Amino acid sequence: MANPLLLTGPTGSTMLRDVARGLAQPQKELAPKYFYDERGSRLFERITELPEYYPTRTERAILHARMPALMHALRPATLVELGAGSAAKTRLILDAMHAAGSGSHYVPLDVSASFLADSATRLRVEYPWLRVMPVAADFTDRIPLPAGLPRPLLMAFLGSTIGNFSKSEAVRLLRRARGALTAGDRLLLGADLRKNVARLEAAYDDADGVTAEFNRNMLRVLNRELGADFDPDAFDHEARYNTAEHRIEMHLVARMPLTVQIPGAGTFRFDRGESVRTEISCKYDRPALNAMFALAGFHIETWLTDPAHDFALVVAAPLPGDA
Ligand code: SAH
Ligand code: AVI
Repeated sequence: MANPLLLTGPTGSTMLRDVARGLAQPQKELAPKYFYDERGSRLFERITELPEYYPTRTERAILHARMPALMHALRPATLVELGAGSAAKTRLILDAMHAAGSGSHYVPLDVSASFLADSATRLRVEYPWLRVMPVAADFTDRIPLPAGLPRPLLMAFLGSTIGNFSKSEAVRLLRRARGALTAGDRLLLGADLRKNVARLEAAYDDADGVTAEFNRNMLRVLNRELGADFDPDAFDHEARYNTAEHRIEMHLVARMPLTVQIPGAGTFRFDRGESVRTEISCKYDRPALNAMFALAGFHIETWLTDPAHDFALVVAAPLPGDA
């Protein structure tokens, strides 16, 4: 099924404008939210199980070890989750909330509408005590929450999805999250940490080629949604670590000179070896996260990590009067 949320209306004008603007840049770029139609969401799930892709299992281990005590301390009534996806790791938070005698509402928010609906259906069966209220939305645009959610609220943003945004975009997004919170609420953020470049590059260029297929999937989405004529097989997948910017950059590199037509946007040329950047994945350390949170109106209350310090799970509290 086509993902209706990629479009603002029958013409898909937001996506068209966005794509046309991105492909007109000297370094062509596309927004990572366009990976996630149904197929893209499924490919991401496969990535999370790859031996090279350490973030998901590391974050899961931290959640497993730390959520019971944390939920006893915070006792949130509502869990809101940005970019929930399959909500696989979320179950560790929901279980701990239930064991702590708190937690009645769960609001998963995601741009991948049909995938979101499927995971909500499964959660309702598994968690009959939980009120599941899925919200299909683009969180770079707004975070529309149902009215009257019981407080305190815990807003989770897992998987280091924050890393798919530049610092200014991330601060804007966290400020928007801050605006939805009140004094007793908390943000739980998963953030991938800086480490050995070879490990980072392998995590984004796996031996089975699943990440390559995930990357090329964006071109299939543009073909379907906009009637573009990208040949996905004419592009090589590339994942490079940018040491100065502390981020992985995923590109699709043209194997030969190409032209691509996008109805309503025009013709876009690629030289041989020219790339379109489809994703950044920023890697953090504690000072970088401290600075970002401060700019967004939060302070770090709890810093949880794995023994190897590969990944951090951060509890952030809203700074008073900084909504
Ligand atoms: N939280 C899950 C999934 C991470 S994948 C995990 O930790 O494994 C990133 C998720 O964010 C996908 O489900 C994708 O559809 C969603 N997403 C990406 N950009 C988004 C946006 N702009 N608005 C809402 N959801 C978005
Ligand atoms: C969703 N996001 C945090 C993933 C990441 O690691 O940046 C997306 C991804 N891209 C390639 N592999 C995984």
